[in-house]
Parts: sequence; structure tokens; C-alpha cells
Amino acid sequence: MNNFNFYSPTEFVFGKGRENECGELVKKYGGTKVLIHYGGKSAIKSGLIDRVRASLDKSGIAYCELGGVQPNPRDTLVYKGIELARKENVDFILAVGGGSVIDSSKAIAIGVPYDGDFWDFYSGKHAEKALPVATVLTIAAAGSEGSGDSVITKEDGMLKRGTGSDVLRPRFSVMNPELTQTLPAYQTACGATDIMAHVFERYFTNTKEVEITDRLCEAVLCTMVKETPRVIADPDNYEARANIMWAGTVAHTNIVGVGREQDWNSHGIEHELSALYDCAHGAGLAVIMPAWMEFVYKHDIMRFCQMAVRVFGCNMDYADPEKTALAGIKAFRRFLHDIGMPINFTELGAKEEDIPVLVEKFGIGDGRTGGFVHLSAQDVAEIYRIAARAAL
Ligand code: NZQ
Ligand code: ZN
Repeated sequence: MNNFNFYSPTEFVFGKGRENECGELVKKYGGTKVLIHYGGKSAIKSGLIDRVRASLDKSGIAYCELGGVQPNPRDTLVYKGIELARKENVDFILAVGGGSVIDSSKAIAIGVPYDGDFWDFYSGKHAEKALPVATVLTIAAAGSEGSGDSVITKEDGMLKRGTGSDVLRPRFSVMNPELTQTLPAYQTACGATDIMAHVFERYFTNTKEVEITDRLCEAVLCTMVKETPRVIADPDNYEARANIMWAGTVAHTNIVGVGREQDWNSHGIEHELSALYDCAHGAGLAVIMPAWMEFVYKHDIMRFCQMAVRVFGCNMDYADPEKTALAGIKAFRRFLHDIGMPINFTELGAKEEDIPVLVEKFGIGDGRTGGFVHLSAQDVAEIYRIAARAAL
């Protein structure tokens, strides 16, 4: 196991009705003037925004509001948010929504105290200062409620880029699984795919002797394999929603990834799809992740066998382990299909002829990238090709 620091200062406030505690939580963490940031309409329609307002009113916390965050959140709204937060002397940002709302909130939070263009932080600069951010989560997916990461799309050129800093870790995250019961099945499945991908990015590692994190990864993956079909069939199943919601956070606070080298190529390769086609991140991952697995599995066949046997219940073929490894990848793709995810370019709405553009935007030139397997631009093109033509 490698040396590591694990820093996860967020207070997770989990369970039914906990959004009614927002006001007291903001007070506890020193907020006096809040920007409530939210998305399209789901949080208004469900009455959640009203409950958040009421809770802030009750605690005597002043607030202003900015809605309209769209999936794959844009830089243009971030600029508006920074301007509004400065004008209103906001000292705390409350994200009410999913990963897109939370990431937009984090971008505003680093932009407000910074003299330059906030995009600098999405072009390599490290954030040292930010307004405090907290979240009321409405979808189990990105894990942004517990991470120090934020991903924003620059509208000019549709460039999707991320930044990461401990100053972006939320002070608190309210997690009421009931809030996810209004999610359409497709969005639930996109979230489930993202959660599994966050684990796989960490699971496929060259670091030896990482039994504890291997087993934690497998626990999250097995939970998702069991619970996702349950919520797709029965959207109001509180217990299944609760298990998925916590799995989403555990998958991405990095508790399952510490002490081991991680990969993250599938995420980078996917981000170009959601940037170019404005598709859901989870849907893009459903197309890319199994294709990446098919491209790299020979690098460590026994690790893929371990996944196949422990997560998807495949039989171990000791005479021909490659068969087991491939059966595991096949089972994963079948699972994604069964929960309603696209598995190839056609189903996603992507085009094979765009592969050169995608590779160009991925932007590694003559270099190599990744942790488990170091990929060249040609390798990335091949993964897109496998993804384009994938079938069950
Ligand atoms: O805008 P509204 O009306 O709220 O609709 C949203 C949106 O259309 C809807 N939704 C959310 N909660 C709902 C709901 N609809 C009904 N009922 C509810 N309770 O769901 C749609 C998707 O929301 P979004 O926030 O985009 O989903 P998600 O949480 O999957 O976030 C995706 C974004 O997070 C980034 C992705 O790249 C993508 O931009 N990621 C962020 C990460 C991070 N910060 O750590 C890591 C991830 O790997 C990921 O890259
Ligand atoms: Zn993700």
C-alpha cells in the first residue's frame, strides 16, 4: 500500500427531512448571507427550494438565489454567479441539486475571492481560497457532495475541464434519499453508472497488497449491482435509494481509493463525449468504461478475473483466466444495458467519424496518460472505436 493522506472534512447529514436543518447548519459553519444555487426546475417542482428557504428564514439567514444550472454546467452562468455573489456580499454558497449544481457552486466559490478569470483554475491553476460551499443533494451520481472536485464546460468551444482542491470540499452535505425518488429512471441509471465508474477508476491499479480498498470497492460495486435494478423497478423504494445515495458518496470521497495508484482515463475520454454531444456523463461512461476495459484487460488479467468473480458472480476458469476476465466485462456491459444505459455510439447519439475530433480535444499529443495503463492518442482512438461498435 502507498503512503496517503485522507482528508474528508464534510459533515454528512443523512436521512428523511434533513433539508429542514439547512438554516442551523449554515449558521454552524459561519454563513450569514447565502447564495442558493439550483438547476432547471426539479428542485422547485418538488417543493425543496421552498423548504430550504423556510429553513434559512427560520434561522434568520439572509439569502439571494440563482437558478438555471444545466447538466454539464457552463462557465457563462458561473460568471453571472460570481457577479451576483459579489454584489450581494454573499459569504456562503448553498448548492441545491446534483453534481452540475454543486460544481457550478464550487466554481463561483473560487471565482468570488479571485481577481482574475475563474477559468484559470480549470486550466491548471490550484485554488487556495474559496467561499464555503455546502450542498443539498438531489441525485446520487457525481459524488461532488463529498469531493474537492468541480467540472465546468466552457461554452466557447465546448471545453469540459476540471479542477480539484481541498478548499472546495463542502462544509456539509444534506443527503435525503427521498429527494431522489423524483428522478427519471434514465437519470437514476446514469448516476448509478457514474458511481460504479468512480470505483473502477480506483479498482484497476498496479499497486499491490491493497486488500482493504479492494474489498471496499467491491462492496460499493456489489451494492450498485443489487440496488440499481430495485430502484429502476420501484422508484419509491427508500431503502434501496438510501443505499445507493451513500454508495455514491463512499465511491468518491476517495476512502476506497487511498494508498493505491488510480487510473481516470475513462473519465477523461468520456468528458470529451459529454462536451461534444452534451450527453449525460453517466451515459457516456456506460459506453466508454467497458470499451476501456476491453482495451486494457490483458495488462492484468487476474485483476479483471477478481472483478468478474467477486462483483458479477462469474465462475473462475483456472485453465483459461482470460475467459473469466472477458465474461466479467461482458456482464458489466449487459448490466448497463439492462438498467437502460446506451452501450455504443449509436445508442448515445455519438458519431464514429468524430473520433479524430474527440482525440484532438482529449489533447495528449505525443504524450501518454493514465495510471493503470498509460495510453497514447492512438490508444484513445482505439477505445473510442471499440465503444462506437460495441454490442452485447
Ligand atoms: O436541473 P434539474 O431540473 O434539477 O434536473 C436535473 C438534471 O436535468 C435532474 N435532477 C437532479 N435531481 C433530480 C432531478 N430530476 C428529478 N428529481 C431529482 N431529484 O437530473 C439531471 C442531471 O443532473 P446533474 O446535476 O447534471 O447530474 P449529476 O449529478 O450526474 O452531475 C453530472 C455532472 O457532474 C460532473 C459530470 O461531468 C457532470 O458535469 N462530475 C463531477 C464530479 C465531481 N465534482 O467530483 C465527478 C464526476 O466524475 C463528474 O465528472
Ligand atoms: Zn464521474
